[in-house]
Parts: sequence; C-alpha cells; structure tokens
Amino acid sequence: MRVVVTGAAGFVGSHVADAFAVAGHEVLAVDAPGRSLTPDLARRTWADLAARPGVVAAELDLAVDELGPVAAADVVVHLAGRPGVRDSWGARRAVERDNVRATARLLAACMRRPAALRPKVVVASSSSVYGSAGRRPNREDDPLNPASPYAASKVEVERLAGAAARDGLRTVLLRYFSVYGPRQRPDMAFHRFVEAALSGRPLPVFGDGLRSRSFTHVRDVVSATLAAAAEDLPPGIAVNVGHHEPVTVRDAIAMLTGALGVPAEIRRETPVAGDATRTWADTARARRLLGWTAATDLAEGLADQIAWHRAAHEEVRVG
Ligand SMILES: NC(=O)c1ccc[n+]([C@@H]2O[C@H](COP(=O)([O-])OP(=O)(O)OC[C@H]3O[C@@H](n4cnc5c(N)ncnc54)[C@H](O)[C@@H]3O)[C@@H](O)[C@H]2O)c1
Repeated sequence: MRVVVTGAAGFVGSHVADAFAVAGHEVLAVDAPGRSLTPDLARRTWADLAARPGVVAAELDLAVDELGPVAAADVVVHLAGRPGVRDSWGARRAVERDNVRATARLLAACMRRPAALRPKVVVASSSSVYGSAGRRPNREDDPLNPASPYAASKVEVERLAGAAARDGLRTVLLRYFSVYGPRQRPDMAFHRFVEAALSGRPLPVFGDGLRSRSFTHVRDVVSATLAAAAEDLPPGIAVNVGHHEPVTVRDAIAMLTGALGVPAEIRRETPVAGDATRTWADTARARRLLGWTAATDLAEGLADQIAWHRAAHEEVRVG
C-alpha cells in the first residue's frame, strides 16, 4: 500500500510512519518541521525518519504548497497540525492555519482525484472536543463542547472531514486522548515531569493534580491508527482512541517518581484555561470497529518513557 503520513516529524507521526514502513508499506512522510512547536527537535526526528528504509520524506507545508503528490496514495494519515490547548490561546492564527486551513487543503486535494483513485483519509482529532467528561466516559455521539482555540479547531477539522465524507471521500476521525511514551512532545506533562525529576527540580504541575486523563501509550495509538487505515469503516465516523481507565495526575506522579526513585516534589502552576478536568474514553466503538483496546497500562508505559529520557540524557553525556 502507498501510505502518506503528514506530521511525520512529530511525536505521533514519527511512530506511525515507522510502523507503516516496518509493516512493508511504501511511506511518503510529509512535514514542515519549521511549523513544529519545537522546530529543532522536529528536524532531528525528520532526519532520522528520512534515513529509514521504505520511507521517502517530502518537506511540504500543507497550508501553502501544492498537495497533488500527497493525495496520490491509498491511505493518507493526517497527523500534521498545531497541537496543545495551552499553546493555542496565544497562537490562534497558527492554530487556524495549521489545523483548519491545512486540513481543508488536504481534503480538497484528495477530492480532486478521480473518484476511484481517492485515498482513504485518517484524520487526527482530539479528546478536547468533548470538554470535561462527567460521571461516565465520553462516547463519540456525545455533544461537543470545545473550550479552547485548539479544541475549536479540531471541531472544525471534524466538520470538514464529515462534509468531505458526504461528498464521497472515505474519512475517519481518530479522537486521541493524552498520548505519551518515547519522543513525547516537550510541552506535554510527562515529558516535563521526567525532565524536571532527572535534573533534581520539582515537578511543574498545572493546578491541584486532581485532573484525570485517559493516558494512552503511543504504541497503542499506533496500533489503533493502523487498524483504522486497514478496516472498512463508515465514512466520516469518529472513533475514540484512549485508554479506558482515567488516572489522576497525582497518581501518575506517584508512579513516575516511584519508578525514578525520587521524592514527589511538586511546583504548582496556574491551571490552564480550557484544560478538561477529566478526559475519559468510552472505547466500545474502537473495540467493535477496530478490534482495539489499549494494551499498555500506565506503570508499564511510564517505565518505557523514562527509559527513553534516560537514554537521551546518556547520549548527550557521552556524545
Ligand atoms: N499528542 C497528543 O496527546 C495528542 C492528543 C490529541 C490529538 N493529537 C493530535 O495528533 C496530531 C499529532 O500530534 P503530536 O503530538 O504528534 O504533535 P507534533 O507537534 O509532535 O507533530 C505535529 C507535526 O505537524 C507538523 N506540521 C504543523 N503544521 C504543518 C503544516 N502546515 N504542514 C506540514 N506539517 C505541519 C509539525 O512540524 C509537527 O512535526 C496533531 O494533529 C494533534 O493535534 C495529539
């Protein structure tokens, strides 16, 4: 299969591109590393990925460049964008550009293909479209309640993908829930916690630590994404990709500091506007349509992420 992965210099995209290549598919990796929240890191990930067998890397800005070659595929996995609730308050134009405009252009390029040659398009959405979960997990047909520019942009991305589906494009929306694991973005909680702990600083926590999340290991996110690319699904459908058991930030910190063997010293920071008090994935649809549930529990997944940070520190020390 010819697979295009956008956002391939990013955290989730680099793992997904890798996995498709390992499975023997022909992968066109697409990114504009200069649009990343951390351009230098994206350039390094990009160089590593471009060197893998089975991967061709094309530097393209989805909001500007001609996208004909991106649409010439069996499957497009669209992970490029500007992530993060916190960042989005000060970056509304970039969020609009890299999430909404980029997606609109990509979908339009796919629609321009002759009907029989149009790719299936798997699009990254986010648990943030729900707002805060209540006493039960969020199901895909729950009302959407975006509370930040980022979440609003993902609602718009979903609307665009839904409209494209009605016009004959096979789109699927994956609502990812707090992804973690090796190569996690530096602005995300566990990355910041592990880096602080490894350099003897208190862990920077937004709010009281009682927020809870369906933390989902990137390995599980990859397997859900590959399943979504392979299965025949109703066009325009949204599927939660999240661990079925939410964990509080406080409990995650206890696990993490326990595994690191350091005291759980915390520095409280002002809570982020628009950050859900709880995210909680109902995974019945993912089970039914993708045969997927998250297989990695948090203790095991955190050990994996910690090992990755340690190896990166060791590389810096030796190199
Ligand atoms: N990581 C999570 O927990 C999480 C949760 C929910 C949803 N998501 C979504 O999943 C996707 C991947 O997230 P991530 O954490 O890997 O983010 P990331 O920032 O690591 O990767 C995104 C990549 O997109 C690229 N990009 C941005 N604008 C572009 C453009 N105009 N043209 C081409 N490339 C562009 C960036 O350079 C970057 O490499 C995003 O759409 C994000 O909103 C992530």
